[in-house]
Amino acid sequence: MIQDWFLDAKLGIFIHWGIYSVADVSESWSFHNGAISYEDYMKQCEGFTAEHFDANAWAQLFKRAGARYAVLTSKHHDGVCLFDTAETDLSVVKCCPAGRDLIREYSSAMQAAELRCGLYFSLIDWSDPRYRSVYPAGVSPDDSRADIYGSPAGGPEDPQAFEAFLASNRSQMRELLTNYGTIDLLWFDGDWERSAEQWKMAEFRDYLHRLNPAIVLNSRMQGYGDYATPEQGLPLEASGPFEFCTTMNQSWGYRPSDDDYKSPAMLVRMFCDCISLGGNMLLDIGPKPDGTIDAPQVERLEAMGDFVHANSEAIYASRRGLDRIHYGEGSTLSKDGRNLYLFVFDSPAEMVCVRGLASAIDSITVLRTGERLNYQFTGAVPWQGIQGTLWIEAKGLTIEDHCTVIKIALAEPIKIHHGHGSAITYNP
Ligand code: GLC
Repeated sequence: MIQDWFLDAKLGIFIHWGIYSVADVSESWSFHNGAISYEDYMKQCEGFTAEHFDANAWAQLFKRAGARYAVLTSKHHDGVCLFDTAETDLSVVKCCPAGRDLIREYSSAMQAAELRCGLYFSLIDWSDPRYRSVYPAGVSPDDSRADIYGSPAGGPEDPQAFEAFLASNRSQMRELLTNYGTIDLLWFDGDWERSAEQWKMAEFRDYLHRLNPAIVLNSRMQGYGDYATPEQGLPLEASGPFEFCTTMNQSWGYRPSDDDYKSPAMLVRMFCDCISLGGNMLLDIGPKPDGTIDAPQVERLEAMGDFVHANSEAIYASRRGLDRIHYGEGSTLSKDGRNLYLFVFDSPAEMVCVRGLASAIDSITVLRTGERLNYQFTGAVPWQGIQGTLWIEAKGLTIEDHCTVIKIALAEPIKIHHGHGSAITYNP
């Protein structure tokens, strides 16, 4: 079930950490798509040391970034587990010099730092032959031969093997939800390769709720999750809870060759766009094989934190702001609807304007500094319910790092006028 903590959190950190950080290849997809052989991909185990992994330092960094939760890959599509599991030997505990349970260190550190603790878990496992034992709907044996890791490699189906695979996923969920303190959120991935019926999703959801009734589940459960997960492309509209996940460069995991980073200003703006629609942003980092985080990623997390901490009132526990027709650059509202926060990018030459605001105003200030701003309304025809335009004097407003937040304190819960306007048939 969706929880208030999740709706209020706004910023989470996504962490794609696995053996794929060793050889500058993409997570799992690199062998699936044939960019590297399966054998060479798995050889990366030898270089995954986690020797400088300091989970508490990660937690402190995430807090400095202003995040309220984190989601770490406990197992990606390659099937390599970051935790000690009775279900397989394919884990960093048994196959890598790391030799230890990294989910334990991570979960303890997040819990100690009072960050909500999330785990990513790939439903699909391209290393497990049992996973390949039934066909996805619409896939024929001929198609499946081209894709041996996603489908049966030709030949008859073996539903029993698939059932054993599902049982193994369930056992791993039990391990993760019972051995690591409170896990607040599960982030499934890869549901698209099988149907809800094949995954036995309804039963799976019940099973998870028996293990933790308060668990938040992302949507990649073929219709059985709690919130939507738009990926990379910023949503322009939303209907219901969502979390926009995005990379900082082009890669989920660590790829030293990828320096195509979004700037801090771009990330702050994407974040504002996302929370203006009422969503969360799950901002991804890809740690190195030794557990350290590359400087450009740290720099971006800290820049996010500078913005978030200075403007926290406009961010945490806020709700979706005005439609863009009323204010074009994005905004949030306090839960009680009495404070409206406008995001202002690029210095306005003269005015910032809000259209159709029909509530009386107490004051308009720059959130960070408290500086009062003058304002006026024009075009109001109150007896026809037309509110006109609010003009906020913003000449000389210095744009703070990346974004300035203007706070409009309302004398009453917000009312907004939508409409077509009309001729005035009576002039006082
Ligand atoms: C995609 C990919 C995966 C990545 C995930 C993050 O679905 O399969 O590699 O982990 O998105 O959202």
